[in-house]
Amino acid sequence: MHPQRQQIFLIFIQAALLSLSSCQKDDEYATCFNSFQCGRLTNLSYPFWGGTRSLSCGYPGFQLNCGHDIPLLNISSLSYRVLDIDFITYTLRVARQDIWNNMCPHILRNTTLDPTYFEFSPDSGDRNITLYYDCSARPRAGQQISLLNQFSCDADNVTTMNIFSMSSRGPGSSITCASNISVRVNRTAAAALENPTVTSLRVLQEALASGFSVQWSADNGNCLSCRQTAGTCAYNQDTGASVCRKANEAGIVVGLEPPRSPIVQNEPPAGTFMMIK
Ligand SMILES: *[C@@H]1O[C@H](CO)[C@@H](O)[C@H](O)[C@H]1NC(C)=O
Ligand SMILES: *[C@@H]1O[C@H](CO)[C@@H](O)[C@H](O)[C@H]1NC(C)=O
Ligand SMILES: *[C@@H]1O[C@H](CO)[C@@H](O)[C@H](O)[C@H]1NC(C)=O
Ligand SMILES: *[C@@H]1O[C@H](CO)[C@@H](O)[C@H](O)[C@H]1NC(C)=O
Ligand SMILES: *[C@@H]1O[C@H](CO)[C@@H](O)[C@H](O)[C@H]1NC(C)=O
Ligand SMILES: *[C@@H]1O[C@H](CO)[C@@H](O)[C@H](O)[C@H]1NC(C)=O
Ligand SMILES: *[C@@H]1O[C@H](CO)[C@@H](O)[C@H](O)[C@H]1NC(C)=O
Repeated sequence: MHPQRQQIFLIFIQAALLSLSSCQKDDEYATCFNSFQCGRLTNLSYPFWGGTRSLSCGYPGFQLNCGHDIPLLNISSLSYRVLDIDFITYTLRVARQDIWNNMCPHILRNTTLDPTYFEFSPDSGDRNITLYYDCSARPRAGQQISLLNQFSCDADNVTTMNIFSMSSRGPGSSITCASNISVRVNRTAAAALENPTVTSLRVLQEALASGFSVQWSADNGNCLSCRQTAGTCAYNQDTGASVCRKANEAGIVVGLEPPRSPIVQNEPPAGTFMMIK
């Protein structure tokens, strides 16, 4: 091919690819108007994505793993079961996957949230409880140690004695423990666990399974304004910011608003062509 014609041809191909990609993008954003289902949860929308739903319809920290009856969400590289979502108050009820039916996880981790996206719901009444692991007691001579806030774990043929306490100041006098983690329980459970009884272990296990509340932030204010004007929030992977999308009468997605609150710094250099996967 003649060099000049070859160049024109290449430009033509590029233009075709570009318009194809923006078409695909429009289709993708159009699907963002439909709610989706993930495991047992229905009527899900922005900022959540996952399963068949791409990041373009959500926000980065909100990918749900939908391969289970109960969707899973990673927060600070810990996996949580999402039990309930309230889109009005931006509140999630989540339970830690590693301890929801087992108080003896292999790896001990505190419940820590990624403050970019999540905070413990201030109004929930949920409280921290500390689990102390691998404890040893120095019983006074002749005194049998039997604590109502005690539980045992078996690992590698070794049984350890462990303690739960609403106090983060320690497991109690003359008890020393190798490690400890802080987890969240609901208000009712916290009150009941303040003074342990024979049913406390069951209460604690149920509380870990029934989860705690976190509030999310994913450009909430702007996205509320967007919804109130019949739009839906979406995510622009090129700019790393949420955008408001609206459909006109013909169902074509319009109203591409300028990106706001960018959260990703490494934008592609200007003029770079990105293919949408
Ligand atoms: C789905 O959620 C939207 C808000 O996100 C709400 O307006 C609508 O009533 C919900 N529909 C159902 C069937 O729950
Ligand atoms: C969540 O984190 C685990 C590792 O802790 C990883 O294997 C998994 O792919 C992550 N899932 C999502 C949805 O990010
Ligand atoms: C509970 O623990 C978390 C860390 O796991 C901490 O950020 C939070 O401040 C604690 N809350 C209270 C009331 O101590
Ligand atoms: C646990 O004990 C069994 C037999 O009692 C033994 O075969 C196994 O190797 C032990 N495992 C560890 C990790 O010590
Ligand atoms: C919790 O464990 C850490 C070591 O992992 C220790 O430094 C700290 O003193 C413990 N806290 C309590 C209250 O026992
Ligand atoms: C959990 O947090 C407490 C208090 O910040 C700390 O002493 C402890 O070492 C942490 N535990 C783990 C397993 O990181
Ligand atoms: C609080 O925890 C208890 C178990 O300790 C559970 O029965 C109850 O359903 C939980 N409440 C909520 C609102 O999750």
